[in-house]
Amino acid sequence: MNYKEDFPILQNEIVYLDSGATTQKPQQVIGKITEFYEKYNANPHRGAYSLSVKATEIYEETRKKIAKFINARYPEEIIFSKNASESLNLIAYTYGLENLKKDDEVVISIMEHHSNLVPWQWVTKKTNSSLKYMYINSEYEITDKEIEEKITDKTKIVGITHISNVLGTINNVKRIIQYAHKKKAIVIVDASQSIPHMQIDVQALDADFLVFSGHKMLAPLGIGVLYGKKEILNKMPPFIKGGDMIEYVYEQETTFAPLPNKFEAGTQNVEGVIGLGSAIDYINKIGYDKIQEIEKEVVGYARKELEKLDFIEMYITPNEKNHSGVISFNIKGVHPHDVASILDASNVCIRSGNHCAQPLMRYMNIDSTCRASFYFYNTKEDVDKLIDALKKAYNMFKKYIK
Ligand code: ALA
Repeated sequence: MNYKEDFPILQNEIVYLDSGATTQKPQQVIGKITEFYEKYNANPHRGAYSLSVKATEIYEETRKKIAKFINARYPEEIIFSKNASESLNLIAYTYGLENLKKDDEVVISIMEHHSNLVPWQWVTKKTNSSLKYMYINSEYEITDKEIEEKITDKTKIVGITHISNVLGTINNVKRIIQYAHKKKAIVIVDASQSIPHMQIDVQALDADFLVFSGHKMLAPLGIGVLYGKKEILNKMPPFIKGGDMIEYVYEQETTFAPLPNKFEAGTQNVEGVIGLGSAIDYINKIGYDKIQEIEKEVVGYARKELEKLDFIEMYITPNEKNHSGVISFNIKGVHPHDVASILDASNVCIRSGNHCAQPLMRYMNIDSTCRASFYFYNTKEDVDKLIDALKKAYNMFKKYIK
């Protein structure tokens, strides 16, 4: 089956290879959002009238659905945010600022997105603690040796991306969590690039925190999730202060609402929550087994076809089992933005640049890459069109390549 049929935007002649940045949305998700505005729009938790009660019900039912989807123990362990970046900032500014002391260490990987890196620079500076990195080997992977060298008795927090948005490397987060827990550190998993492609079980992983963005898994832009273990979230101070996160407010003092409201100040993105619930229904209907079967075939084909082009340099692990649906590459001697513009003329959409991972680029001694990222709606024909467009780009530029 070709799943493109479910996606109105893919009915146009585009080859969409930028799902790592944001996925397209199926009609089912778009329809649910329209239905909300046509039938149930009201502000949850704020009205006694039935429309607001209904909006509250849908909002809270979706929280339960997400808890089940990632196997969280309690629905109140699911906090809605704007995106993974906001979830990560919440952790850094509450758990991080509250718990880090002088000489403590935060360990992250060199392949983190800026959103799991810049907040830790800030918070470690504020607390006089330090920020350490786990680096990659020549196969773009983090070895066990590296994990065990960097995570020590001084480590209090480990932040790790489940899948690199640049390299597509699947990190062994279970191993990292087990080792960090031995050292009494807590672990934050950035699942933004993994949850679209694989089943996440927060209890099996024993993750202390796990974050993701809805828009990378078929839901609308502007809705994110923070999962945290209840006992940890309960001890954390609130992040954004305002409406609906309070219990009692006096002139000089405030007491805060219990979870999850403590972390959800202000009117929330209800259409985003509803869209995320619908995206989960859609993913469940297809099933991760099917998603992985399609992606394995299409991404495997893309790897093979790209390898045949001798003017391409690829940045992916040779171990296919540790690689997901992101392929970064360069046409040697040509700037990625130029390549992406030429591909655009053939309706092929790829991302180019540093992918919000400048320290990784620097570590790899490159400025930027082209990146094709895949989802289950991509086909081998899409790969063929990418390859044709790349050949065209190379032929156009080759006389200028030194
Ligand atoms: N973080 C997103 C990406 O990798 C935007 O493209």
